[in-house]
Amino acid sequence: MQHPTNMRKGLRSRIARVALTAILACAGMAAVAGTILGTKHDFTGLNKRAGVVAMPTVAFSDLGSPCIYCHIPPERAGSDTAELGGIPGWNRFTPSSDIPGAYNLYDSFTLDNKVRAPSPISLLCLSCHDGTMAVDMTVFKPNGWRNSEDAALHLRINGANNLMSCGKCHNGRVAHSIAIKHLDTDLTNDHPISMTYAGLNHRDRDFRLPDGPYGFDNGVKLYDERVECATCHNVHNPDITLLLRDRADRLCETCHIK
Ligand code: HEC
Ligand code: HEC
Ligand code: HEC
Ligand code: HEC
Ligand code: HEC
Repeated sequence: MQHPTNMRKGLRSRIARVALTAILACAGMAAVAGTILGTKHDFTGLNKRAGVVAMPTVAFSDLGSPCIYCHIPPERAGSDTAELGGIPGWNRFTPSSDIPGAYNLYDSFTLDNKVRAPSPISLLCLSCHDGTMAVDMTVFKPNGWRNSEDAALHLRINGANNLMSCGKCHNGRVAHSIAIKHLDTDLTNDHPISMTYAGLNHRDRDFRLPDGPYGFDNGVKLYDERVECATCHNVHNPDITLLLRDRADRLCETCHIK
């Protein structure tokens, strides 16, 4: 049985969702687009904001739209990127380290679900954040984009001081250090990902039951019943620091009971 407060909360968020759907239907992709602009994932806007002209011409290619760094361009909608070595559904190549066992995933004696490889939606994030591929390594470039605009160097999110890494400048002296955004392929120190959520159907009493198949009413989201990077982070909503779906002190207890 559901507690009355939860039911009210559920209703409120259903109303909110209906309103949001209406807004999105009117404004199309633009409503979502606005929330990427001005964030650190807004690659086309970075130079303007930071005032660093060298970044998009040297460090990475300016593709003219911030969306293309992750999403398949509209004119290629429906393309099977996997056929081209991409991550299914996304405009990025599968990180080269995606040979079985290449990622060292979190493991412990208590972890219920052993996971061998991250799911596509988490590979999307890792394709930049594991530091093995350039941030502008997209499967498709947008229509009208010219090779002459290609960057001289295609740098990676990596704190190393070499000509392959953003760390060349982002070392804490020339520019802010990028090392903390570099997760590496060793994910054993990070929260486990791509495992089925242990709280489904009360199978595990240490975990809360989700509010619905999509996840929790505070926005914490499950993907095919799994926990992924985007479960805790929403790259489309910069309202909470580090793009979290709820404040860090409340995030954990969304799922963990103790
Ligand atoms: C850093 C990667 C990234 C960038 C850049 C990005 N997106 Fe997304 N986008 C995502 C992810 C991840 C999701 C899935 C989010 C979810 O399920 O909550 C998504 C979902 C969406 C959706 C579907 C929304 C929904 O409710 O399912 C739309 C529409 C969208 N993005 C549009 C855009 C537009 C327009 C831009 C450029 C202004 C953009 N995105 C830039 C990663 C990105
Ligand atoms: C195209 C490359 C790219 C992809 C794909 C990408 N990121 Fe990022 N991300 C970046 C860059 C660049 C930064 C900023 C690094 C810096 O601040 O030095 C960043 C920053 C972040 C931050 C810190 C934000 C802040 O305000 O400091 C989070 C959290 C994050 N990314 C999560 C994600 C998640 C989750 C996904 C997948 C849904 C993802 N990223 C996909 C490139 C990417
Ligand atoms: C030629 C030196 C240089 C290189 C190479 C470089 N950057 Fe920067 N970047 C800067 C400077 C300088 C700033 C502005 C000061 C700061 O934010 O630390 C900046 C700012 C940024 C910001 C904006 C931070 C904010 O507060 O919004 C992000 C994100 C960023 N860089 C990401 C990258 C990524 C990703 C790469 C590699 C693909 C890269 N940069 C390569 C010099 C560089
Ligand atoms: C269970 C929730 C959760 C999951 C899953 C998760 N994160 Fe995070 N992430 C956080 C929290 C909370 C922080 C804030 C810093 C901290 O406490 O470690 C964070 C911080 C970050 C940062 C910023 C580091 C900094 O301090 O600037 C990046 C980048 C990031 N996460 C990317 C990812 C990627 C990529 C994945 C998937 C491989 C992922 N996260 C999965 C909760 C999560
Ligand atoms: C979306 C739900 C969700 C959120 C939010 C979440 N976790 Fe988890 N967490 C899980 C699941 C599921 C597991 C794996 C449990 C299993 O399969 O045994 C897990 C495992 C862990 C483990 C490893 C435990 C073990 O058995 O080895 C730690 C530590 C942990 N989480 C800490 C955190 C912290 C800290 C936060 C907040 C920043 C957080 N979690 C947020 C769902 C979540």
